[in-house]
Amino acid sequence: MNVKQEVLEVFERDKGICISGAQLAAQLCVSRNAIWKAVKTLQEDGYSITAVTNKGYTLSNDTDILSPQSISKYLYENAGPFNIEVYKTVSSTNTVLKELASHGESEGKVIIAMEQTLGRGRLNRSFYSPRGTGIYLSVLLRPKMSAADSLFLTTSAAVAVAEAIETVAGKDAKIKWVNDIYCDNKKVCGILTEASLNLEGGGLEYAVLGIGLNVLQPSGGFPEELKDIATSVFNDTNCPADSKSRLVAEILNRFWAYYKNIENKAFLKAYIQRSMVVGNEIYVIGNNTCEKALATKIDQQCRLWVRTEDGVEKALSSGEVSIRKV
Ligand code: BTN
Repeated sequence: MNVKQEVLEVFERDKGICISGAQLAAQLCVSRNAIWKAVKTLQEDGYSITAVTNKGYTLSNDTDILSPQSISKYLYENAGPFNIEVYKTVSSTNTVLKELASHGESEGKVIIAMEQTLGRGRLNRSFYSPRGTGIYLSVLLRPKMSAADSLFLTTSAAVAVAEAIETVAGKDAKIKWVNDIYCDNKKVCGILTEASLNLEGGGLEYAVLGIGLNVLQPSGGFPEELKDIATSVFNDTNCPADSKSRLVAEILNRFWAYYKNIENKAFLKAYIQRSMVVGNEIYVIGNNTCEKALATKIDQQCRLWVRTEDGVEKALSSGEVSIRKV
């Protein structure tokens, strides 16, 4: 860590508390001038830091800028081997992390962006990723599992996200099979897991788990095509300080707890309980088809069982279902 990162770590841990420059300098074994320079750069990066002569520096409680330092203070001590990097803008956090993975990056690398210019969703769709209002994050995994079981990465992450939303925002969060999280009947989060197969071993070489969460309303609202189907965890008016950092940490903490013993499927009961499709009429989307069906259950493989109008029962393990006619 450089001086700026070390200063930020102290500020994040003692947010809202005045820390003297002399104390910081002694603690980090650097000059007071180095502290002053670090503070200045942080201010230029958008951190609201007040400096009072003969007293010290205070990072404002309202600051909610994602950084490894702002997130790690909320990570459990036994959380995964996370190595977090935060960017202002990237094309797609999944794309960046897949590139790193193909060059041997270790499990636990996390790429977070405040904005994506080419955010991607399932089925080759784009994922709306405006600046500053969402969390766009990807985690690199190197699980020892078959390609078929990789569905459990997405479904356990869906439970982790739903639980994180409830913990941080106190809002009910449901799961729309297989990878969407809903609040108030609108989508707040989508998950895209992309895997590379090890052709010799038959398992996964790596998987990149990508999570896109709308935390705040985008300035000017969601675009016309999303405004009736998308929502955010908070309105601008009810977002407590540090929410983004807490959400990221809660997602990582909870996901890792499920992931490290994924074969136990400890997430499955919660996944089923949070389902917003089971027991309801849905639409199964195929290539140019949209078939009405009743969703009857989610099984131990996280497959969704549906009964079509002609009485045929079938299990879906991928593809898409919709709660609205499309
Ligand atoms: C979906 O809704 O179909 C899935 C959306 C997944 C979006 C996330 S944002 C972080 C990561 N990077 C991407 O380009 N996509 C995923």
